[in-house]
Amino acid sequence: MDIRVFDNMDDLTQSFTDWLAERLTEKEYLTISLSGGSTPKRLFDHWASLPQGEIDWTKIKFFWGDERCVPPENEESNYKMTKDHLFNFVSVPEKNIFRIQGENEVEAEAERYATVLEQELESKNGTPVFDIMMLGMGDDGHTASIFPHEIALWESNRNCVAATHPESGQKRVSVTGKVINAARHVVFLVTGENKAEKIGEIVRQPNKAEKKYPAALVQPDSGNLTWFMDNKAAKLLKSSV
Ligand code: 6PG
Repeated sequence: MDIRVFDNMDDLTQSFTDWLAERLTEKEYLTISLSGGSTPKRLFDHWASLPQGEIDWTKIKFFWGDERCVPPENEESNYKMTKDHLFNFVSVPEKNIFRIQGENEVEAEAERYATVLEQELESKNGTPVFDIMMLGMGDDGHTASIFPHEIALWESNRNCVAATHPESGQKRVSVTGKVINAARHVVFLVTGENKAEKIGEIVRQPNKAEKKYPAALVQPDSGNLTWFMDNKAAKLLKSSV
C-alpha cells in the first residue's frame, strides 16, 4: 500500500486534489464514490475554494459509498453535506449526481442503488467498477457503513446492503466489500489521533486486523490503494514506514 503522510490538512487536501487532477487526465470522465465524515467536509471546502476551471467538475460523476437513512435535507445526510460544502459552489450538472435516497426504506434503497450502480458504472465479472472509491475510517475501524459488529456484510454478494450504526442504531445503506475492492483506485482519507491505534494495527498486523476491522479488508484487486493521512493518524507508524 502507498501511504502518504502530511503535516496538516491543507497539505493533505492539496495533494489529494493534485492526485485527482492527474486521474482526470487519464479518462474522458471519472466515476467517484464519496464518503461522509469530517475529513471529506474539509476537502470539499478546499475544492469549493479552488479557482474556477482548476478541476473540470463536469467530467466527474458523483456517487456515495454510504448514506445515513435520513431525508436529503437532514443535517446527518452525506448528500446534504456534499451539497452544502461542494455542489453549491462548483458547477456539477444535476445528471452527474447519483445520491443514495436516504428517505427510502433501507432494504428497498439498497436494492435500488445496487441497480443504479449496475446501470451507470462499467463492470468486471458482474461487479460495478468505480474509477475512484474514496473512503474514510472510523476510530472503531469501520469504513463506508460496514461496522465491526457487522463485518460479515463485507462478504455479501450484493452491491449494497442495509447496515446499522452500532451505537445510535441508525440505519445506513452501504456498498459492500466486493464493490470497494473492484474499484480502479481506492483512496483512504484519514485524519486525527483517534485513528492512530487502528492504523497501526492495520499496517503492522494486517492478518489479525482483517478479522476485526472492515477497513483492514480494503484490498483492491487492482492493487491501487493509497492512504492520505495526517501525522496524527500516522503517529504509530513512524518506525514502520
Ligand atoms: C459516514 C462515513 C464513514 C466515515 C468515517 C470517518 O457516513 O459516517 O462514510 O465511514 O468515512 O466515519 O469519518 P471522519 O472523516 O469524520 O473521521
